[in-house]
Amino acid sequence: MKKKAFLIALAMATLFVAAGIYAATTAPDVIELNQPAYKHKKGIISFSHKKHAEEYKATCGDCHHDAEGKPRADLKDGDDVKGCFECHNKPGELKGKKAKGLSDKEKRAYHANALHDNCKGCHKDYNKKNKTKAAPTTCTKCHPKK
Ligand code: HEC
Ligand code: HEC
Ligand code: HEC
Ligand code: HEC
Repeated sequence: MKKKAFLIALAMATLFVAAGIYAATTAPDVIELNQPAYKHKKGIISFSHKKHAEEYKATCGDCHHDAEGKPRADLKDGDDVKGCFECHNKPGELKGKKAKGLSDKEKRAYHANALHDNCKGCHKDYNKKNKTKAAPTTCTKCHPKK
């Protein structure tokens, strides 16, 4: 009986990980942003989650939001967090001709568009406001060479 319960728990844990749902977790200090649902053309970013939340004073709700897109301002360690791909679930980036005529929301259905809007958006605002270039906005400053 015990073994069966364990197996069920294991199966469920596997399911959650596969779906990109992190149940009651503390985020690691550094996250490899390597969304497994598609093939990557660019170098994988080691994202310093901890530095962003602590040193760079970004709030959880600056990056995490609910199913309506409303910032999860009161998020804290231990709460459930869904991976971005759960909702922005089209693989890769859509731009140029292919993105023509689409609304920002339609473009953000693509995973990399949503990430770029979030990461670059804040970085651009931050640099402008503080007259600096500390926050990376060019491809190779974020994506290391492959
Ligand atoms: C600058 C953006 C940003 C900020 C600020 C931020 N996060 Fe995250 N967080 C992310 C990204 C990106 C991921 C990876 C999501 C994915 O895998 O799709 C993530 C993942 C997570 C995960 C899942 C980690 C795992 O691998 O198990 C948790 C839990 C989490 N964040 C909690 C928090 C909490 C709590 C705060 C506030 C203290 C916070 N985050 C602040 C961007 C951010
Ligand atoms: C539970 C579903 C869900 C998850 C998980 C999710 N999003 Fe969203 N996101 C939405 C919805 C809905 C909107 C509103 C529609 C729109 O503007 O694209 C939105 C809007 C956005 C926007 C535009 C609004 C803004 O705040 O500027 C960005 C950028 C974005 N998401 C990035 C991310 C990133 C990065 C992650 C992972 C850390 C993430 N999303 C996780 C559903 C989700
Ligand atoms: C709410 C604002 C905000 C968001 C959102 C944000 N960043 Fe940043 N990030 C910063 C600031 C501010 C700095 C520069 C701090 C400094 O060095 O003065 C920075 C610096 C960085 C750096 C260079 C320094 C380091 O820690 O490695 C990288 C790489 C980076 N961000 C990646 C990302 C990625 C990837 C995302 C999206 C998943 C992201 N950032 C989202 C605010 C943000
Ligand atoms: C602020 C950091 C940042 C900058 C600057 C940036 N990216 Fe990204 N990019 C990301 C993140 C984060 C992802 C999502 C990676 C993941 O979660 O797997 C991504 C994903 C991608 C993807 C889809 C995944 C892949 O490797 O094929 C492409 C293509 C891409 N970026 C191209 C670019 C290009 C071209 C530029 C310059 C015009 C650029 N990026 C600038 C952060 C950045």
